[in-house]
Amino acid sequence: MTKNYLNTQSSLAMKSEGYYSAKTVGAKNAIDKTQKLIENALNTIPKKEILRFADYGSADGGTSQEMWSNIIKLIRETGDERQIEILYTDLASNDFSTLFKIMQGMQGNSDFAYQKFFSNVFVHGCGTGFHDQLMANNSLCLGFSATAMHYVSERPCLIENHVHMTGASQNEINLFKDQAHKDWETILLNRSSELIKGGRFVCINFGIDEQGRCLGNTGGKVMFNNFAMNWKHLEAQGIITNQEFINATFTQHYRTIEEFRKPFDDKESTISKSGLVLRSCETMITDCPYKTHYLKNTNTMSANDYAKTLIPTMRSWSETVFKNALINRSANEVNKIVDHFYNLYIDDVSKNPTGHAMDYVHVIMDIEKID
Ligand SMILES: C[S@@+](CC[C@H](N)C(=O)[O-])C[C@H]1O[C@@H](n2cnc3c(N)ncnc32)[C@H](O)[C@@H]1O
Repeated sequence: MTKNYLNTQSSLAMKSEGYYSAKTVGAKNAIDKTQKLIENALNTIPKKEILRFADYGSADGGTSQEMWSNIIKLIRETGDERQIEILYTDLASNDFSTLFKIMQGMQGNSDFAYQKFFSNVFVHGCGTGFHDQLMANNSLCLGFSATAMHYVSERPCLIENHVHMTGASQNEINLFKDQAHKDWETILLNRSSELIKGGRFVCINFGIDEQGRCLGNTGGKVMFNNFAMNWKHLEAQGIITNQEFINATFTQHYRTIEEFRKPFDDKESTISKSGLVLRSCETMITDCPYKTHYLKNTNTMSANDYAKTLIPTMRSWSETVFKNALINRSANEVNKIVDHFYNLYIDDVSKNPTGHAMDYVHVIMDIEKID
């Protein structure tokens, strides 16, 4: 297996300057659907003097802003005037400047800049990854994370003949699975330390559902296979080298429901012993909003119009993987190659849009710290 020499953080980042949340309506829709679960959790969390929330792996904060705004509005409507602290966490390489601008209402949808509309709401940022403990012991009332914990803390290997673990060899899959298992334990143990007794951690993670479906693979064309095919095509054309093909390995693992449940089902595990229990665990499909829009407007939209809305949403989170795979090239050359790569996908969809989409497949978990 090829040596893993690439810097992990640099290949994880979302496209910056607000591009991520502007092009990721589906991620926002998935978050909005979890509001009820969060409301229900809040009703049972013990009333501490300060309400402390955290949003782990928040990117620019735009996709979860309406949900948090609704939650804070509901809290205030019940007459609860407690001070609220909300900590946005992501990697140090995240575009926190855009996050703070979005929170101030200087960018994105200012209707949801809740700290402007409600008093005693304090927004903070934290640039340490969620595999570490990020807050003092017993201080967090409610943690939330969306679409972030499929990123593993290190890439256990580079994938030789594909770009993603969903298309990797069994040996490669096992290495990713082991890494993801260790990471899931670390993530949970640290949340367990941070949470107050009775506190909750609600997370929605990309995963593989009961029917084997996952992001961009819900019955039609398989998005990650398309990425791999077009990246290989660039190698066959001599545009990229074989090493550059291999370097494009997503630092991600899509856990199955069993993998997510494992530390909770085992009552002797360190997670169970730390006081965490799984209150609910379900899978959720969120239709690709660009597909839905196109199917409603086939009279006025061409297949190429559709492709030009669909591919940017894929590009918002995948581009850095392909850019960072390229070695010793000028910025101009890198941009040209990566533009060409995504244009191949646009061409595929324009020729025949049937089956192309990026439906989201999430595993939603509501976790409580009981001791
Ligand atoms: C696909 S985005 C999701 C953003 C947002 N939560 C949403 O649902 O739209 C994944 C985010 O997770 C962040 N991330 C990945 N690994 C992380 C880690 N170890 N610690 C904190 N954030 C991480 C990435 O930087 C990125 O901003």
